[in-house]
Amino acid sequence: MRAPIDTERLSAEIEELARISDSPYPSVTRVLFTEADMRARRWLTGRMEDAGLAVRVDAVGNIFGRWEGTDPDAAAVATGSHTDAIPDAGRFDGVIGVLGGLEAIRALQAAGVRPRRAIELIMFTAEEPTRFAFGCLGSRVLAGVVTPERLERLRDAEGRTLDDARAQAGVSGPIPGARLAAGAYAAFVELHIEQGPELERTGVPIGVVTAIAAPATLRVELTGEGGHAGAVLMPERHDPLVAAAEVVQAVDRLARASGSPDTVGTVGLMTLEPGAVNSIPRRVRMDIDIRDTDEARRDGVLEGVREAARAAAASRGVGHSDEVLNADGPATSDPAVLSAIEEACAESGLTSSRMVSRAYHDAVFMARICPTAMIFVPSAGGVSHRPDEYTSPEEVARGAEVLAGALMRLSTRL
Ligand code: GLV
Ligand code: MN
Ligand code: MN
Repeated sequence: MRAPIDTERLSAEIEELARISDSPYPSVTRVLFTEADMRARRWLTGRMEDAGLAVRVDAVGNIFGRWEGTDPDAAAVATGSHTDAIPDAGRFDGVIGVLGGLEAIRALQAAGVRPRRAIELIMFTAEEPTRFAFGCLGSRVLAGVVTPERLERLRDAEGRTLDDARAQAGVSGPIPGARLAAGAYAAFVELHIEQGPELERTGVPIGVVTAIAAPATLRVELTGEGGHAGAVLMPERHDPLVAAAEVVQAVDRLARASGSPDTVGTVGLMTLEPGAVNSIPRRVRMDIDIRDTDEARRDGVLEGVREAARAAAASRGVGHSDEVLNADGPATSDPAVLSAIEEACAESGLTSSRMVSRAYHDAVFMARICPTAMIFVPSAGGVSHRPDEYTSPEEVARGAEVLAGALMRLSTRL
């Protein structure tokens, strides 16, 4: 049975959600618990309720919509993704996993399917690390892989805590209580855009994700004396930004030299104090993103960058500290969930190819608590995290159809 996906409705909803944003269309900016995020949450909740889903929100703001099965005591099958967006992002990242999941459920309902296991749609809180420099907040909490102490240390750029942000958003309750019990879900499937060029290049409509690369974030702080840009002569300077420039070079050099094209290193965030054209910087903070499909190789580059930062600081006579903000292991997909996806592709007459995910996803953490796999659809030009991110309505609809087929199999068979 092929689920009757309503391509137009799904596409119209993606466009509608894109306009709930702090930047002008087609750019999307929706940062955790900002006004735009809260409006998007209310809009999504309405859509879930219209589909007859029973909605609940947990203590970290994850939103769940449950379509009850014929066996309410059996563990549910889950799908979902995120709707938060980094500044100046596109309208498909995360969103197609949530709205495509909703459309998959509606299509199964329209086809008269009665799942044995309940099917739950999840909108995960803050997959993107924008506000608290901490990605996959909601799925980490569900999987119980973050300590209360780590959550208490989180601060946004204004110095606000997660509890401040939750209070502002009207989200309450003890966060450890949001952790899911082992066996809470029988399986999890996440639909997402590829965010890379492979599917488009090979003309394959569906990617079946077998593993997700292991991300790490390193924060380095370098501190000097600051001073007047005219009055402090060059021999007297201890400029932390010059040391930081050496660290940027080291990130690029070490990632390129790892021996694998799967190693990537990026300095995407650097803040300077005091930040004036006529002032030598006093403090530089940089957040460095390093990833690989091989955890040991990733950790080797991470240690190399830490060492390079120590050496750069020593040679420039500036202070130095670093903190590994997160260093998560890779995720491996479950064979039964992979089979369900591939059978759904065959039923829909769609070719698929197995691939790894180089971006991270909430599925990284869901994989720790239940059998998990992901479905990818093509990204035009491999572009993502940019306003010109694009996947056609038909490509998204194919992904939603495969998702529906996989959910149906997992909810009746497992
Ligand atoms: C998720 O958005 C990532 O940075 O991979
Ligand atoms: Mn993203
Ligand atoms: Mn995403």
